Amino acid sequence: MTTANAPRTPFDRIGGESEIRRLVDRFYDLMESDPAYAELRAMHGADLFPMRVSLTGYLTAWMGGPTHWYEGREKSCIMSLHRGLGIDRETADQWIHAMSRAARDTLDDPPFVQSMLQAMAHMSASMAGIVPDDIA
Ligand code: HEM
Repeated sequence: MTTANAPRTPFDRIGGESEIRRLVDRFYDLMESDPAYAELRAMHGADLFPMRVSLTGYLTAWMGGPTHWYEGREKSCIMSLHRGLGIDRETADQWIHAMSRAARDTLDDPPFVQSMLQAMAHMSASMAGIVPDDIA
């Protein structure tokens, strides 16, 4: 379908940066409150506010929106930033599980959520050094 009003990027389709911020806030709220994500929470610093800002900015650029996240980080690669953090199958699984719940809680677009989570599952699996289908 091609109409003038069709969203041009995933960023348009999700509803812009405010919707990404809602998703990210729910993700970190779950990480902070549910003991099922204890190992994942323990990997992060005490204050999750900088992560809320950074992940919102990263996903904004990743989905085709404004690229301000890269200002001052021109050479940053998300995979390199996660190298050496000790990510394993369990923590990768917790990340995807929390993100899946956050997406279901905040977004009303199942096909979009499925595609987004599939891409994130591949990234997370690579960060853990495992085969993507193992955690999808
Ligand atoms: C495999 C599961 C993952 C784990 C266990 C994980 C864990 C972490 C940890 C421990 C940090 C640093 C936190 C701190 O300094 O307090 C971090 C930062 C970050 N992660 Fe992940 N992460 C995962 C997957 C992802 C994915 C799939 C994305 C993107 C879609 C992502 C985006 C980010 C961003 C943007 C930052 C902040 C980088 C910065 O501002 O320096 N992470 N992650």
